[in-house]
Amino acid sequence: MTEPNWHIVARCEEIAPGKMLRVEVGWHTIALANVEGTFYAFDDFCPHMDYYLSDGPLEGCQISCAMHGWTFDIRNGDPCPPLVSPQMDTYPVKIEDGSIQVLIK
Ligand code: FES
Repeated sequence: MTEPNWHIVARCEEIAPGKMLRVEVGWHTIALANVEGTFYAFDDFCPHMDYYLSDGPLEGCQISCAMHGWTFDIRNGDPCPPLVSPQMDTYPVKIEDGSIQVLIK
């Protein structure tokens, strides 16, 4: 049973390791990423100019925007040097019965 604010967004097998999937939950556009079997969720709109972050390359836990190259750590949303700000929004993730669930507050 899904708890309040946790949303089932995909099945684990839909996202191969090293791949991403864009999902819509209400007015949220969220990118899901599989990094070596661990799933992460982050706001898919780049904080710079709203380009889709998931269109850029994912290297380990770092996503780089395809438009101007801003790079973020998908584990915590921290900007990666030389970028010092802003923060990227991330979402807590849990897996239940093979389903990926994302907490949206
Ligand atoms: S739109 Fe993403 S870095 Fe500019």
